[in-house]
Amino acid sequence: MTTTGEPLTERDGATARAVGPLTPADVAAILSDVTRGVVIVRSPHGPAILPHATRLVATPWTTADGLSPDGAWPAADNAGPAWPLLAYLPPLPPERLGDPGFLAAHGVRYPYMSGAMANGIASTRLVIAMSRAGMLGSFGAAGLSLQRIAAAVDELQTTLGSGPYCVNLIHSPNEPAYEMAVAELLVAKRVRCVEASAYLELTPAVVYYRLASPENRLIAKVSRVEVASKFLSPPPERLVRELLAAGRITEGQAEAAARRPLADDLTVEADSGGHTDNRPAICLLPTMLALRERIRRQNGYSVGPRVGLAGGIATPAAAAAAFAMGAAYIVTGSINQACVESGTSDLVRQMLAAAGQADVTMAPAADMFEMGVKVQVLKRGTMFPMRAHKLYELYRAYPSWEAIPAAERQWVEKTCFRATFEDVWQQTEEFFRRRDPAQLQRAARDPKHRLALAFRWYLGLSSRWANAGVADRQLDFQVWCGPAMGAFNEWVKGSFLEEPHNRSAVTVALNLLYGACLLLRRQMLQVAGLSDWAALLSDHPLPREEIERRLGWVQAATPHQNLA
Ligand SMILES: Cc1cc2nc3c(=O)[nH]c(=O)nc-3n(C[C@H](O)[C@H](O)[C@H](O)COP(=O)(O)O)c2cc1C
Repeated sequence: MTTTGEPLTERDGATARAVGPLTPADVAAILSDVTRGVVIVRSPHGPAILPHATRLVATPWTTADGLSPDGAWPAADNAGPAWPLLAYLPPLPPERLGDPGFLAAHGVRYPYMSGAMANGIASTRLVIAMSRAGMLGSFGAAGLSLQRIAAAVDELQTTLGSGPYCVNLIHSPNEPAYEMAVAELLVAKRVRCVEASAYLELTPAVVYYRLASPENRLIAKVSRVEVASKFLSPPPERLVRELLAAGRITEGQAEAAARRPLADDLTVEADSGGHTDNRPAICLLPTMLALRERIRRQNGYSVGPRVGLAGGIATPAAAAAAFAMGAAYIVTGSINQACVESGTSDLVRQMLAAAGQADVTMAPAADMFEMGVKVQVLKRGTMFPMRAHKLYELYRAYPSWEAIPAAERQWVEKTCFRATFEDVWQQTEEFFRRRDPAQLQRAARDPKHRLALAFRWYLGLSSRWANAGVADRQLDFQVWCGPAMGAFNEWVKGSFLEEPHNRSAVTVALNLLYGACLLLRRQMLQVAGLSDWAALLSDHPLPREEIERRLGWVQAATPHQNLA
């Protein structure tokens, strides 16, 4: 590797100062200080760094490759020798990744969001930790009672004050009244940022939340072009009129609706944990960016909603790729479940830490079971996917519990329920009597619906057993998880992040962001033909304090005092 063997002259047009010689560790440390720009020149001894350069003196007689027209090194002026510029690495701190509009709109420092995870897996603890670190966390409200959502919002507001946070509003096609009740709660509690997800069609609930206050921000998470189009456009007139007629919004709010897109941000969700269409990020994001542009032009918006990326982001390389493709921000999920702040159990955290990329599969979803919707789950260490598939096949094949052959019914009761159908039905009735009695009326008329509700008892509880760490039910654990988990485990192998109890969501996020900056720098060095120097930059996991120290070292007197 080439480093400067002799003192270099640094010029900023006003002063000349000698620095160096530099060791490989010096070079690595300077390049790793992403808060500063780095000027690299070709000295007679090889590539050399001018670490303090703030502006370069352009000499009119220097050709594009830096040589004077006669091929000689430019003559020294009174400040000493001049060398051809090889590369300029601009400052690239994590806050410069993505779209500054995202940072401003949500009051965050970094273009990073931890996505909602149902049943409070994306816990208040996780959301608070993210917020305090200058990132956006979305509380996992799906599947929770209104009381629990209200309590979580109270806690977030009390703890964070005006700090950023977000709450999930999930499409619940089976329970439109519940979906509207959640929207009403979020409006009443003045929650200013909502992550809307799992929508196939727009509903009054999601449009109501957005229109209820000009301060309400909507981050829509989608994986399909046709759904994205709806969030990138103004809300349909029909829904706006309906809300107006119901007295939920004012004339002014209805009029304003037509002038702006429904969503402020559109998270494009590629292959991910939980609900997913398994689309590849590398194909999906460019399509959605182009769609955003098309709809922006059609509607005459000066700027369209920002487009972020979720799904499969678990390493600095994936984060760098997302930003390089044009993502305004990134969203992670699976890896946060594996972190200490998540609302799952230590048992699940251990299972996640052992997962490889191929240890995930699709299995029937509890919330949209009858529609055949599937979710991506962990398959290593649990029989849930296989059992849930079998329940779905039985549901498809038979009109009622009684119509299922005796041997199959026995299997369901012994293996899945560990109880009789009657016992399970009794518990199901109790649940829906409180939550949504209309389901029971329908079940009384339609035995197939009764069968679906009973099977959903198992699917619903399987994720609660996982969250609670009920060891005796480990083989039934439903753990939503995408291939990102395996990618993460591979990346952290041999580092402190291999241990589940060391995995803090903020440490992980900072590593992804800072690592992305290093990798993008590495790419610039590569392009400049400096592959030896590119190899000095590594995305190996670092403790949080080390990253913060590196990002804060701009305050220090000289970069050399901060060498790793
Ligand atoms: C355990 C788990 C539960 C999830 N639950 C929800 C949810 O309730 N609402 C939602 O919008 N997204 C949910 N997601 C999706 C995440 O918010 C995020 O978009 C996704 O996990 C990103 O992809 P990744 O898993 O590849 O990181 C869930 C993901 C996981 C892993």
